[in-house]
Amino acid sequence: MSSTILITGATGTVGEAVVQQLHHQQISCRVAVRQPDRAQAMFGDRVEAVQFDFLDPATFSSAFVDITHLFLVRPPALSNIKQIAPALIAAKAAGVQQVVFLSLMGVERNRIVPHAAIERCIQQLELPFTFLRAGFFMQNLSTTHCDDIRLHDDLFIPAGTGKTKFY
Ligand SMILES: NC(=O)c1ccc[n+]([C@@H]2O[C@H](COP(=O)([O-])OP(=O)(O)OC[C@H]3O[C@@H](n4cnc5c(N)ncnc54)[C@H](OP(=O)(O)O)[C@@H]3O)[C@@H](O)[C@H]2O)c1
Repeated sequence: MSSTILITGATGTVGEAVVQQLHHQQISCRVAVRQPDRAQAMFGDRVEAVQFDFLDPATFSSAFVDITHLFLVRPPALSNIKQIAPALIAAKAAGVQQVVFLSLMGVERNRIVPHAAIERCIQQLELPFTFLRAGFFMQNLSTTHCDDIRLHDDLFIPAGTGKTKFY
């Protein structure tokens, strides 16, 4: 059976890089996006762009049809598991064989972040998974932390007395 990889968050920082990397390796994928026209303009004909919104279950069945692998990015604005779980349940019902979830470094010791609830949901659904527990992205320096650096010449990061780094 051939595989169909579905990428969420494909128009975002990580998802776009994942799509580009798959393309370099000549692996085709489908992107699940809120604006298929925009994604098609970004990636051209080398991807199939389908309508998908975590908050609109009506978009799930056509996005998930025949998928074998799901790359799951939690949109930063969606912090409640109730906003993500319905899509995971639909992915399970569609027969997805592997969920690769962009999670967060230290999530196993920090149960209040949304990623912890998503990891638990994936495990409770007994979906085969890979959790990518990523650290801070370098891109944050020119986005989230830009003003702190510019205005205060400093970085404010919830790392306590721990050491951390940017990737
Ligand atoms: N920054 C870090 O240092 C860091 C480290 C570890 C983990 N993470 C995790 O990485 C994730 C964010 O990744 P990113 O930076 O690549 O995100 P991003 O650039 O902010 O992109 C978010 C993506 O989600 C899509 N999206 C937003 N709302 C949606 C919805 N309702 N339904 C479907 N798609 C929706 C957006 O599509 P549209 O084009 O439609 O808006 C966009 O493609 C977060 O979960 C974050 O916690 C970040």
